[in-house]
Amino acid sequence: MDLTVRATPRLAGETTVPGDKSITHRALLFGAMGDGPSRIWDHLEGGDCRATMACLERLGIVVERVAEAEIIVHGRGLRGWRPPAAPLDCGRSGTTMRLLAGLLAGQSFPSVLTGDAQLLGRPMGRVVEPLRRMGARIRATEENSPPLEIDGGSLQGVRYELPVASAQVKSCVLLAGLYAQGPTVVVEPAPSRDHTERMLRARGAPLESRGFEHTLAGPVERLSALDIRVPGDLSSAAYLLVAALLAREGRLVVRGVSVNPTRTGLLSVLNRMGARMTLQNLRSEGGEPVADLSAEPSTLRAAEVGGDLVPRMIDEFPILALAATQAEGVTRVRDAAELRVKESDRISAIVGELSALGAHIQERPDGFNVHGPTPLHGGPVHSHGDHRLAMTLAVAGLVASGSTRVQHAECVADSYPGFERVLGDLAPGALEGG
Ligand code: S3P
Repeated sequence: MDLTVRATPRLAGETTVPGDKSITHRALLFGAMGDGPSRIWDHLEGGDCRATMACLERLGIVVERVAEAEIIVHGRGLRGWRPPAAPLDCGRSGTTMRLLAGLLAGQSFPSVLTGDAQLLGRPMGRVVEPLRRMGARIRATEENSPPLEIDGGSLQGVRYELPVASAQVKSCVLLAGLYAQGPTVVVEPAPSRDHTERMLRARGAPLESRGFEHTLAGPVERLSALDIRVPGDLSSAAYLLVAALLAREGRLVVRGVSVNPTRTGLLSVLNRMGARMTLQNLRSEGGEPVADLSAEPSTLRAAEVGGDLVPRMIDEFPILALAATQAEGVTRVRDAAELRVKESDRISAIVGELSALGAHIQERPDGFNVHGPTPLHGGPVHSHGDHRLAMTLAVAGLVASGSTRVQHAECVADSYPGFERVLGDLAPGALEGG
């Protein structure tokens, strides 16, 4: 599917965004590990989270659909999952594969994790290595890629220092730690999203966090079932907020968005860039801070981004790059080499696609430089099969003169089903045929 977006000066209205992807994955997994049923409201029904649901169903978990925004996961406890009859298909979802790898390493049965061609090209050594140190028998390809063949068995607690800040790796090791003899200690180089830690504690797991160090006292016998309402995904709201900042008229309000401080790096950077944004009605839902966000047309200036800020906005660099094309000065992104192993090589992909629209952006090994402001012109661009690229390029289409055709935009539904409809409602006339 191609998505064609026309230059549109006005973006206005109020909306919500689908449930947070990271929290939905974890709500499903923790539901499956819980003792008895856990109800989940407002989960994300995107491709990645569906992959997690489908894997859990193959492991004997019943996921009951009560209503469009309500499901019940019938947990079978930490040790009641059934051996899968076939390889578990994680689709394009790295979170599904890396978190399940930790959980399956501790089971008493063998399993295989596989996925789409895109996922088969992503690095898994980062989870294979610590799991092997814990005693797991796990095989990957010679390049340390999937499929992962896991012979579940007994695990030992370890102290593991993460070479890169990654919530997926941290979560994988902590989840394996539930089954390990003795304490499992994970040390992060910088704080990454902490949804796993919040959910472990809320369900009664003996987890202590001191600064960048997390200690889980294993083995854990049971996790309690817990109902949860999933807040809106800030990583999805980011596209709409930046679209509103770059518009010439209008005002956008996005209600009920997760503003967990381990996720709000983009908001901090945009504030520094001079964005007119507000955060209101701060409250707590499902153990996570939630707020309503607003954004208005703004004159932006360049910013420098690096260090500990990077993991706090790891999925927001494509949309930051677009904002930077309209900001006065040189925006420099450093310490972000991890972007090269996401759903695409996000450094080279965003540099290539925004350059095709007229941006002045240069690739660096660990980031990019953007010189702004630069008028963009519409044209054909490619999503690289990466949902975050596709949505960034669709927002670029609102700013670029003429029309912008985003090729292979169907991947948007991996994290934000309905994105095109919302964009068309907020910016009438933007979508071809809309
Ligand atoms: C995620 C962690 C991040 C992020 C991904 C979701 C998670 O990946 O990019 O979209 O839910 O734990 P890394 O752990 O590889 O940084």
